[in-house]
Amino acid sequence: MKIFTTVDEIRPHLKTMRDKGKTIGFVPTMGALHEGHLSLIREAQQDSDYVVASIFVNPEQFNNKEDLEKYPRTKNADITKLEEAECDVLFYPSVEEIYPTEDETVFEFGNLDKVMEGKFRPGHFQGVAKVVKRLFDIVEPQKAFFGMKDYQQMVIIHKLTKDHNLPVEIVPCPIVREENQLAMSSRNERLTEQQRKEAALIYKTLKMVKIQSGFMPILEMKDTVERKINKSKMMQLEYFEIVDMYSLKILNAWAESNNIIACIAVHVGEVRLIDNMILFS
Ligand code: PAF
Repeated sequence: MKIFTTVDEIRPHLKTMRDKGKTIGFVPTMGALHEGHLSLIREAQQDSDYVVASIFVNPEQFNNKEDLEKYPRTKNADITKLEEAECDVLFYPSVEEIYPTEDETVFEFGNLDKVMEGKFRPGHFQGVAKVVKRLFDIVEPQKAFFGMKDYQQMVIIHKLTKDHNLPVEIVPCPIVREENQLAMSSRNERLTEQQRKEAALIYKTLKMVKIQSGFMPILEMKDTVERKINKSKMMQLEYFEIVDMYSLKILNAWAESNNIIACIAVHVGEVRLIDNMILFS
């Protein structure tokens, strides 16, 4: 695997590959790689000739300084995992490399970045859009692979590519889960054994929601979810929303959409976890 840290090195290399007719698949990450990321690499390998992963803990998307500081950084283990997965290129830039000058671009996402993560993490999606656009400009992939766990992020990045005419296809990839069905996340590393066990309640609750969807009124469903999660002494619900899959409009009645997804954010001790489940599509 080739490792590049600067734009000046990676760009000519990828141009050579494109000139040879190779299609480039891109997997942007913030490191602390787990099986979920590796499944994105595998999807990219099936769908493209040459796979580029990036690792960049993007300070712009953290609205909380402590969260940025505590974000797990596992450089050597990440490189080993990517090498074992036979990834072709790793881009590992510094903050100065990605943001050489002040970037004051403001992206317009309408409702998409006002709800759920956008409401509780102000500025988060502006930071995500900033870095993803910059990485797309550098790597110029034909396809980019994103996990469905960060569903709202995926919808927003899709809009970013449409609004800015970026010639990259966004490929959604299924959520990868641990044995107890907890969605894989770099943040899971910060959970204690007991918290990890308890966090299985998030998926169990979403399963209950799916079974009851279309029957139990949405407002009653929200109350039930809040009670179920908050009953655990280790967990605190931040939000649970049932939304249209495309507009992310918050629904109050099942009849308002045919494409519906349930999204949840929960604090487990100091760790904030998100998950989701498609209810109708
Ligand atoms: O999902 C992530 O890991 C990050 O938000 C991303 C897309 C790599 C941008 O920093």
